[in-house]
Amino acid sequence: MTQRTATLTVDGNTSEYPVMSGTHGNDVIDIRSLGGKTGMFTYDSGFLSTSSCQSRITFIDGDKGELLYRGYPIEQLAENCNFLEVTYLLKNGELPNAAQKSDFENTIKNHTMVHEQLVKFFQGFRRDAHPMAVMVGVVGALSAFYHDAMDTSDAEHRSISFNRIVAKIPTIVAMAYKYSMGQPFMYPRNDLDYTANFMHMMFGTPCEEYKPNPVLVRALDVIFTLHADHEQNASTSTVRLAGSSGANPFACIAAGIACLWGPSHGGANEACLTMLEEIGDVSRVGEYIKRAKDKNDSFKLMGFGHRVYKNFDPRAKLMGKVCAEVLGELGLENDRLFKLAKELEKIALEDDYFVQKKLYPNVDFYSGIVQRALGIPTSMFTCIFALARTVGWMTQWEEMVTDPEYKIGRPRQLYIGAARRDVPPITKR
Ligand code: SDX
Repeated sequence: MTQRTATLTVDGNTSEYPVMSGTHGNDVIDIRSLGGKTGMFTYDSGFLSTSSCQSRITFIDGDKGELLYRGYPIEQLAENCNFLEVTYLLKNGELPNAAQKSDFENTIKNHTMVHEQLVKFFQGFRRDAHPMAVMVGVVGALSAFYHDAMDTSDAEHRSISFNRIVAKIPTIVAMAYKYSMGQPFMYPRNDLDYTANFMHMMFGTPCEEYKPNPVLVRALDVIFTLHADHEQNASTSTVRLAGSSGANPFACIAAGIACLWGPSHGGANEACLTMLEEIGDVSRVGEYIKRAKDKNDSFKLMGFGHRVYKNFDPRAKLMGKVCAEVLGELGLENDRLFKLAKELEKIALEDDYFVQKKLYPNVDFYSGIVQRALGIPTSMFTCIFALARTVGWMTQWEEMVTDPEYKIGRPRQLYIGAARRDVPPITKR
């Protein structure tokens, strides 16, 4: 098959660039030789039209509202698998058979405790510190504890790092919550599965045995699956860029957590619930829709819009379903905020502005309501997102460090600052 090429002509000079096609999605123009051929760079602030890597992990079709993890649609994975099976799939490329699943579960179970010294890191924070600030600090601190498996060229070392962070992140998230509550940390229990164990560490106390509600455990487990990975989003790109220098993988995950915290990214679920609380009543929805459309008002509808999805975010639909199940199980079908969210979604989706700009609910729209119903405080919502996305971050990190084309990421720029000039003597400044 003849190689397809893209031709660029600037000031009468023509150069050609190969066009590459993937399994699904947009073709790309390989412009790596552009600088050498033309002495020019591309300009793409916010990376709206830039592919940063080749990847086999996750695919999103923004127009169809499709999300695939290793080729499997998110709807089927949410329905038929648990989070650890999805974790195994993302890491290894295939779903586990029964033996592999049991093996993996046991491996993760036996890494859930954290070094007792790590507990001391919490003491340095105020009790009212934002849990995401605590997570950035404590997960970053993990990089001070493990020097025995840091050779990223060694598959066994990469696997140990993957298993350690995936196993310990729920423990650390629960510790951040307990610390904010002034309650004692709960040790992991090996008789519980991954998500039930997390709920035990979050809501259990030394005073009595915590009995996880299987319906709520399953709901949270699906929420983890929905958040596990999402192509080259801002926090994943942060982890990849940090990792491209050869940095410690735990430090890279801490960088991803820091990026996810922003309200435009993973912090939107917390911001969305705060927004719903502020709107307060269906009668005020119109006022906020108006503000969202006002160019002079920086207000945005939190939980709406997406860089890639220009149709429904499939995770938002699944999250809405989980939300209804949890509220039903808890007898909260008439939850005020859920009804308000449904009404806001309905009004927004009928409004020309949102239709024209293709602004649909994203994964963060319902996740706050369901997490609040599960007893998770608003400030912890993004920590839950980080817990799940750690699987995607580590998988993307491993793909990057094992990529034959791997090199340190170092973008260029268009310099628009002061022209070259000489320093004047102080008397002439
Ligand atoms: C996540 O990348 C990922 O995959 C992220 C994520 C993942 O799983 O990793 O999916 C998780 O981060 C979901 C997104 C959560 N963020 C929010 O819900 C915050 C509210 N949404 C917006 O901030 C915004 O939609 C973004 C940040 C999500 C997307 O921003 P883009 O792609 O840069 O688009 P944009 O901001 O340029 O918006 C395009 C237009 C603009 O109007 P114009 O300048 O063209 O006139 O739509 C408007 C925006 O003003 N717009 C909104 C809006 N979102 C975009 N107007 C009102 N309310 C909104 N929510």
